[in-house]
Amino acid sequence: MRLLLLLSTLYLLRGREVGVGGQSCKPPSSPPFNISQDQGGLSVTVNGVQVLQHNAVHPMLFVGEGQDKVVEFSGNFFITPYVEQRVALTNFTLSEAADGGYNLTLSYATYWVTLRLSAGVATPLVVAIVDSSNNYNRLWLRVPAVADERVYGGGEQFTYLDLRGKVFPVWTREQGVGRNKSTLTTFLADQLGKAGGDYYTTYFPQPTWLTSRNYFLHYTGSNYAVLDFRNPQFFEMFVEEDTSGAEWHFQVQSSLSDLVSCLTGLLGRMKPLPTWLYEGAILGVQGGTEKMLSRLKTATDKGISVRGLWIQDWSGTKQTPFGKRVFWNWRWDSDHYAGLNDTIVSLRKSNVRVLAYINPSLDMRGDLFSTAKDEGYLVKNQAGQTYLHNSGSFRCGLVDFTNPAAYNWYKDDVIKGNMLKLGLGGWMADFGEYLPVDAALYSGQPASLLHNQWPRLWAQLNHQAVSEMGEAGEDVVFFSRSGFSGMGNATMLMWAGDQNVDWSMEDGAASTIPASLSLGLSGVGLTHFDIGGYTTYVLPALKMVRSSERLLRSAEHAVFGPVFRTHEGNIPSVNAQFYTSPYMLDCFKRLVDMFTALSQYHQHVVNVTYFTGLPAQRPLFLNYPDDEGSYKVQYQYLYGDDLVVAPVYLPNITTWPVYLPADPSDTWVYLWNTSLISPGGSSLTVRTLIGQTPVFYRNSSAFVDTFVKIGKMLPIPPPTLPPPTPTTDSQHTTDPGTGLAQRWGGSLVLICLSLFLCKLM
Ligand SMILES: *[C@@H]1O[C@H](CO)[C@@H](O)[C@H](O)[C@H]1NC(C)=O
Ligand SMILES: *[C@@H]1O[C@H](CO)[C@@H](O)[C@H](O)[C@H]1NC(C)=O
Ligand SMILES: *[C@@H]1O[C@H](CO)[C@@H](O)[C@H](O)[C@H]1NC(C)=O
Ligand SMILES: *[C@@H]1O[C@H](CO)[C@@H](O)[C@H](O)[C@H]1NC(C)=O
Ligand SMILES: *[C@@H]1O[C@H](CO)[C@@H](O)[C@H](O)[C@H]1NC(C)=O
Ligand SMILES: *[C@@H]1O[C@H](CO)[C@@H](O)[C@H](O)[C@H]1NC(C)=O
Ligand SMILES: *[C@@H]1O[C@H](CO)[C@@H](O)[C@H](O)[C@H]1NC(C)=O
Ligand SMILES: *[C@@H]1O[C@H](CO)[C@@H](O)[C@H](O)[C@H]1NC(C)=O
Ligand SMILES: *[C@@H]1O[C@H](CO)[C@@H](O)[C@H](O)[C@H]1NC(C)=O
Ligand SMILES: *[C@@H]1O[C@H](CO)[C@@H](O)[C@H](O)[C@H]1NC(C)=O
Repeated sequence: MRLLLLLSTLYLLRGREVGVGGQSCKPPSSPPFNISQDQGGLSVTVNGVQVLQHNAVHPMLFVGEGQDKVVEFSGNFFITPYVEQRVALTNFTLSEAADGGYNLTLSYATYWVTLRLSAGVATPLVVAIVDSSNNYNRLWLRVPAVADERVYGGGEQFTYLDLRGKVFPVWTREQGVGRNKSTLTTFLADQLGKAGGDYYTTYFPQPTWLTSRNYFLHYTGSNYAVLDFRNPQFFEMFVEEDTSGAEWHFQVQSSLSDLVSCLTGLLGRMKPLPTWLYEGAILGVQGGTEKMLSRLKTATDKGISVRGLWIQDWSGTKQTPFGKRVFWNWRWDSDHYAGLNDTIVSLRKSNVRVLAYINPSLDMRGDLFSTAKDEGYLVKNQAGQTYLHNSGSFRCGLVDFTNPAAYNWYKDDVIKGNMLKLGLGGWMADFGEYLPVDAALYSGQPASLLHNQWPRLWAQLNHQAVSEMGEAGEDVVFFSRSGFSGMGNATMLMWAGDQNVDWSMEDGAASTIPASLSLGLSGVGLTHFDIGGYTTYVLPALKMVRSSERLLRSAEHAVFGPVFRTHEGNIPSVNAQFYTSPYMLDCFKRLVDMFTALSQYHQHVVNVTYFTGLPAQRPLFLNYPDDEGSYKVQYQYLYGDDLVVAPVYLPNITTWPVYLPADPSDTWVYLWNTSLISPGGSSLTVRTLIGQTPVFYRNSSAFVDTFVKIGKMLPIPPPTLPPPTPTTDSQHTTDPGTGLAQRWGGSLVLICLSLFLCKLM
């Protein structure tokens, strides 16, 4: 009960003080920060934590000049910064203002920057640029670090949870396919479309870090930035182009969990999800009304609780030289989905919602593109023409969210008019990462500054559309993949984007775990992923298709998260699906039963996320800061306070190591064998069959009965015969999801193969 009681106390306190879901941060002391001057330098501390240091040997600020080379291929940006000059601002003058703030001017020769150091509304120390010599376009801020300091955040990071020792550019983009230059998958994706990615490529970067010295630093701008954690003595943030008005917010609290809570107060906190999400699965299906209903029947005949049918091809499909793709013209295609309007109404009566798909682009063959173009609603190029984006097999325009008329048209006519009025229960709000840097925006702002903000604008537009529907928008849920600072209350739910259907660490099932943890530490606490992954290859050089085992391990992982949603992948016919065989259906029935058995727990966990800002999926060390072993774990998480979840992300596993944090007043119990108990503080190896996610619960949890009940749901033995091979289904449509995989047709395969062979020779 300990943590439960603690949380409800916090909730009561916070509820009284600042309102439920409000900011929940210990107020700053007085004065909020201290500046001391010594030995020709200065030091700034907040609650005894040194956050800034400056002297001639260790200057805190550098300015310089440089330029970038930016190249883009379908959302894969390559930014090569070239620095011509970098100057350490070693000189300084400090003056105190009457209101307790300070002016700090840092200078060298003709370069100078005046910073204002003052207490912010939400943070004890805000460092703002108030004036400068204006003769530079690059800036580096240094913050002192100690050798064993750990650092987290940076938005959604798929490869590393602890960022120490590496460099992380802050630029929203496609996360890449493979994301490890030494793998064949990454190599092929790079050859095909420069789409391989790397350890740092992400849809959702954020210029925020939190460290084990219990402070966070958040930069409020959206310029291209780089977080550099390589040096043992300092961390450095690089920011380029216009930094006038830049602000850095520092917060110090007594723990990382308090810091996360404060961060959500600063950047916006996620709201609870509609509770229907906890009552069943959302099945990703497609191919027209009949196909959708027959998939539903297949599932419900087995007794699977279905609460949503997610049809990404609701707007129809178009034949392209590289196969069928979703038509990016966001209105119901009544030929493809005959009678969908009536079907939505009747499905709703049996508690099944229909979810669809939209992104910020419009296919130039569609009527919405024509309307938008005629009205001047599309992003333009420097010549003042519509900026046409190549989406692989067709071209499209990007709606200009800086144009209020365009924004309102997309919100009112497209989302409210075409989607919400149709009765959709939600949708995937895909993309948001593609704004080219050489675009000419309606607002006149540089596209390079708006690029990172685009995902938030996109989410906010979706959110407003839903809110403005009033009651009709209640219980609607949309989910975003891209993001940036301020996403917490702009979106409703995140999902991890496009993973490979393989077992790779950097881009397979495993990568969704650090992704959810880093996102949670960055203040965005509700996320989920495509069950089974998305990106599928069928190339002569590489066949990467989804096995039943991969799908089932992924689904059993999703049971211990707030949303259970399947995806067929970009080549559904070659991938294992929930409907592939009676065995798969039986397994899914059991997993969805487990998921729904947890419905009260899901609701509780999401409530806590709302009340405290702490993420639903948390790193172990967030609850157990004194447990040294917890800091080494990035592929396990706490789901709420009561469950340690260690998903199996490798094939052919029968035993699996689990690290349990030391809980001084409680005992961990293995979900699948309640005789196996541990006080924590060590690793142990558990037996796990498919369908048995390694999970331990706290034996004093208020939900023990639920956990015990789930522990008794025996796994489904696999059939003795190999499962039947999936049927080929010509109705399948490739996903509009990522730009790349779906456009690999025969000719590209040949080009790829020859490139590949050339490289080998
Ligand atoms: C500032 O220094 C004073 C005196 O050392 C101390 O009492 C106070 O707590 C410090 N405040 C902060 C925010 O560090
Ligand atoms: C601090 O800097 C601002 C902006 O340059 C200036 O307006 C203000 O007078 C300065 N205050 C002090 C005390 O130097
Ligand atoms: C640093 O400040 C001192 C004192 O104001 C000045 O004499 C010196 O020229 C400055 N150095 C540079 C490089 O700006
Ligand atoms: C990248 O792949 C290589 C070869 O498979 C592997 O040794 C390495 O650990 C991977 N890198 C990361 C960051 O996982
Ligand atoms: C999101 O949260 C931020 C910070 O608390 C606040 O300034 C902003 O108004 C909020 N936005 C919405 C749409 O609630
Ligand atoms: C559904 O759409 C059809 C046209 O495709 C229309 O005739 C019918 O009235 C609509 N039903 C409802 C309930 O709006
Ligand atoms: C979650 O919060 C809502 C609103 O405060 C409340 O009605 C509901 O009972 C809570 N659910 C759980 C499981 O705590
Ligand atoms: C799984 O293990 C079996 C037997 O040990 C082996 O034949 C098979 O190749 C393994 N499969 C994978 C995907 O590693
Ligand atoms: C359950 O755990 C106990 C204690 O570790 C062990 O002795 C027993 O063999 C386990 N049972 C199964 C079926 O694995
Ligand atoms: C949890 O386990 C510990 C150690 O076995 C025990 O002392 C405690 O009473 C248990 N608590 C509950 C609620 O069962």
